[in-house]
Amino acid sequence: MEPIKTFPRLGTRVDMEAIRAETGVSEIYRMGYNESPMGPSPKVVAAIRMAAAGIGYYPPMGDERLREVMAQTYGRGLTADHFYTSLSGYEAIELVARAYLRPGDEMIICNPTFGIYNKVALLEQATTVDVPLREPDFVPDVDAILKAINSKTRAILLCNPNNPTGTMMPSADFDRLMENISDDVLVIADDVYNHFVTDPDYPDVIKHILAGKNVVRIQTFSKAYGMAGLRMGFGIAKPEIANPVAGIQRGFHNNRINMAAGVAALLDQDHLKANVKMALDGKQYIYDQLDRLDVAYIPSQTNFLIVKFNREVDSLVQSLYQKGILVKKEPLPGIPHSLRVSTTVPAGNEAFIAGVESWLRAEQGSA
Ligand SMILES: Cc1ncc(COP(=O)(O)O)c(C=O)c1O
Repeated sequence: MEPIKTFPRLGTRVDMEAIRAETGVSEIYRMGYNESPMGPSPKVVAAIRMAAAGIGYYPPMGDERLREVMAQTYGRGLTADHFYTSLSGYEAIELVARAYLRPGDEMIICNPTFGIYNKVALLEQATTVDVPLREPDFVPDVDAILKAINSKTRAILLCNPNNPTGTMMPSADFDRLMENISDDVLVIADDVYNHFVTDPDYPDVIKHILAGKNVVRIQTFSKAYGMAGLRMGFGIAKPEIANPVAGIQRGFHNNRINMAAGVAALLDQDHLKANVKMALDGKQYIYDQLDRLDVAYIPSQTNFLIVKFNREVDSLVQSLYQKGILVKKEPLPGIPHSLRVSTTVPAGNEAFIAGVESWLRAEQGSA
């Protein structure tokens, strides 16, 4: 018997111990995963320790306490009913898709973007329609999106700022999109990197939520909160959307450890700010050094950036790997030889630059 939906089993394990053994390097810098290298707040770790003793009992069925703290943290008149919690930002998107997509529906996405959106749609027997990012600035093309909307369009998924380009849709474009779509199209704003944005022109999605628009803002604890290993996310939307999305969740959806960790993380915004500062300082250092080396890059609104080279980068990825520096090869339209590089601790950023510099020297020597 064949399953109705088939996807390859996921299994690209990154085994740090195996990398240490293979390379002989003890300090591995994970610059390919868009994480925060300082990790969680010590208060989160303490809360997890406390909660661990209670895992013999089912957690509370509801997540009211966590959502109340979310409402306090975001302010602006948002209430606990504007939030739903999820086991990752990824799942926050999946829950919306499960609640809103029907077989045959279309969801507009703007490639190159985060790779999971297609699978999320296919699981609901819907499809994605690609309205590519404008080149060379890699920003969504609002006119093209509006033109692509038809009777099957049910959702528009915008990743802002976008992974992997690090680029951002400005607020005027987002506002224009929200003003020009009909009531039966839902905008999913995947804003998981929002904490790293410094451009004042970043769209105010919450303004649209409070105005009663059909928009869901996707958030995660994986990035600026430094908690990727815990798999926690949430969404923000008007209660008419957040409540049915939350209703999809199974009973005892959140475990005790996640709920305690989420509350502690939200209450320690200083730690989040420290994670953001480390990412922004690291990004500035990488920009300055790439300028010095005359290597191009895409200025980014996230904790990672695209670095552009003018020749094949396999040997660079390999030589960085041998030094314990993990980066992601990320070919983009018009930029065939590029890497996506996440910022990390200062020593890692420096090791990355040193690795690039010695590779460039060796390449120039062999040219
Ligand atoms: C754009 C974007 N959205 C969502 C996620 C999902 O994050 P998580 O499932 O770790 O919350 C990621 C993770 O890299 C991402 O880059």
